[in-house]
Amino acid sequence: MRIGFIGAGNVARTIARHMLASGHEVLISNSRGPETLTDVIAELGEGASAVTRDEILGADIVVLAVRWGDAENAVRGLKWDGQILIDATNAHVGTDISLEGVTKSREELAKSGRTSSEILSAWAPGARLVKSISNMPMAWISDFSKTKPRTVLFASGDDAEAKRVVIDLLNDAGFAALDLGSLAAGGAMHEVGAPLSGVELHFVQRMREPE
Ligand SMILES: NC(=O)c1ccc[n+]([C@@H]2O[C@H](COP(=O)([O-])OP(=O)(O)OC[C@H]3O[C@@H](n4cnc5c(N)ncnc54)[C@H](OP(=O)(O)O)[C@@H]3O)[C@@H](O)[C@H]2O)c1
Repeated sequence: MRIGFIGAGNVARTIARHMLASGHEVLISNSRGPETLTDVIAELGEGASAVTRDEILGADIVVLAVRWGDAENAVRGLKWDGQILIDATNAHVGTDISLEGVTKSREELAKSGRTSSEILSAWAPGARLVKSISNMPMAWISDFSKTKPRTVLFASGDDAEAKRVVIDLLNDAGFAALDLGSLAAGGAMHEVGAPLSGVELHFVQRMREPE
């Protein structure tokens, strides 16, 4: 498949490498244009290319990998037409990601009465939103080998078929993706500051290869 990334930072580059390793094509975009992505594309190697903001919609699956403060600008105004959009963001308010900052972010979300992915979904009408990837610090999934530990990533969403596609994609890439239900129920469990966000290595599963 063609996996697109809005954002070209830590998350986009890490997940892109996993996607390339499992045979997918990767499209990368940022806010400054493809000509600023030469180094990122060179680092990712064969199978990766830089695209414009609009061209990212040519991907089968688009991963949103920008900071929460940039998320609305990043997705609003694009002509979403059934693409699967993976919300990899964590809705941090500001730049304080300490426990205090995370607590403040949860208080803001509680005031809104919605999970961050439900908020995002309203900014990207026409996209089939699945929240995933966001629960795991990238430093913990930087083994790109075929024998890497099957680290758990969560997935939640209201479109059952889109969620199944994302779970299969992540499982094929060597993760163990678990379905946490709807955007509302799942978000409450794995979005920023929720109990299943940033869980540590005891969530690493080692599965026996099928015989
Ligand atoms: N780092 C982790 O371990 C981790 C793990 C899970 C989830 N997350 C979440 O994933 C998101 C991304 O984190 P990160 O660590 O990858 O951040 P990062 O390294 O700062 O990268 C953010 C990227 O977003 C791009 N960007 C900013 N505004 C944009 C726009 N309007 N349109 C397109 N691209 C835009 C930036 O490039 P330009 O400024 O050049 O456009 C940059 O490439 C955050 O919400 C974070 O909370 C992070």
